[in-house]
Amino acid sequence: MLDLNQVSNAAKILAEVISITEQLNMLKDLDAILDRILMEVRRLTRADAGTIFLAEEDNLKFSYVHNDTFMKVGEINKDIYTNFTIPINKSSIVGYVATTGEPLNIDDAYNLDPSLPFQFNKNFDEKTGYKTKSIFTVPVKTSQGEVAGVIQLINAKDAEGRPAPFPQNTRMFMSMFANTASVAIERAIMTRELILRMIRMAEMRDPAETGPHVHRVGGYSAEIYHQWALNKGVDPKEIKKTKDLIRVAAMLHDVGKVGISDKILKKPEKLTDEEFAIVKLHTVYGAQLFAKPTSDLDTMSREIAIGHHEKWSGKGYPGLMIDMWSKPPQVGAPKRGVDIPLVARIVALADVFDALTSPRCYKEPWPDEKIIAVVKEESGSHFDPEVVESFLEIFDVIQLIRAKYTDALREEEKPK
Ligand SMILES: [Fe+2]
Ligand SMILES: [Fe+2]
Repeated sequence: MLDLNQVSNAAKILAEVISITEQLNMLKDLDAILDRILMEVRRLTRADAGTIFLAEEDNLKFSYVHNDTFMKVGEINKDIYTNFTIPINKSSIVGYVATTGEPLNIDDAYNLDPSLPFQFNKNFDEKTGYKTKSIFTVPVKTSQGEVAGVIQLINAKDAEGRPAPFPQNTRMFMSMFANTASVAIERAIMTRELILRMIRMAEMRDPAETGPHVHRVGGYSAEIYHQWALNKGVDPKEIKKTKDLIRVAAMLHDVGKVGISDKILKKPEKLTDEEFAIVKLHTVYGAQLFAKPTSDLDTMSREIAIGHHEKWSGKGYPGLMIDMWSKPPQVGAPKRGVDIPLVARIVALADVFDALTSPRCYKEPWPDEKIIAVVKEESGSHFDPEVVESFLEIFDVIQLIRAKYTDALREEEKPK
């Protein structure tokens, strides 16, 4: 595989940029796009680590990270759930690049000219024992020329894997690349925003269905799937593809609630049997929204919408669909076990876990030990035992996701 030391002229660099951009355009989810961007630019520049920050008002929000020294290929990347922002000003390296809109190449982070306005932040190195040397930072600009974020590459290596400055033509490649990458990033942000808008519609009906809730369910589902797939020895390419889709599709699990009336969803008293039968139809209404799938994402969204209240034991709902358009919809035998698509079995656990772990007006959040005990008890009855096993294996990641998307974010997500 080529890297920038071998790709010498502009035409070849452009060809590389185009081929990476084509691959980016196939992806739906923002995290999957950021992951792919870092993978490709690090491959070409032989960088040990890389970080992407996205601009949010006057700040740069830490959005994605890779670090070969600390992470094995294919493993779950916990570090992406770290939550912090850096102000856009000239006092930090990334802030400087976002402010000036110009790339910056540093050969030795510990030997900066003291007259420069920014300083290298040693916190990460001091905490982890990592030794940062070369840093290449490039702005990501939108088609209107606004800075949408910053890509930072750390510690280039030579062919023998020894630390080295970034190759001469990194600047040309990264500048060309950052512009096309911004299109993919903008598209993914737009997709997420459209989804959040659909969720806000559902939220108007059911106040429990909030932006943070669906982000958490999306994150839990993506990582439970990743662990399940690692346990099963699924091909890494297939893992990436499914993980890209499940995070987005899981967010839409309850979007069918738009079809249920306020009178029922907001009723403070216990629902009657007839009313509960109507609530159950949100699974069917969700599936109706994706009835004519035009993409793998639609197909998966439909599987999740209709299947996320099925139970492994066959005692969930709505069961096998005979005619979802008839009134009321006609259902057949209950679905059980592997008849329920894997992605729906995963979201079933992610959604129930999030409901138990969140405060509601009628209850305090349950402590983790109590939830884990219930989940284990329900393994093999409500939940797929293999899904439960994967969930328990990555419980530390689950906790990070929960901390990242707290309900405090809700204010931010409301229109200003
Ligand atoms: Fe639901
Ligand atoms: Fe939900």
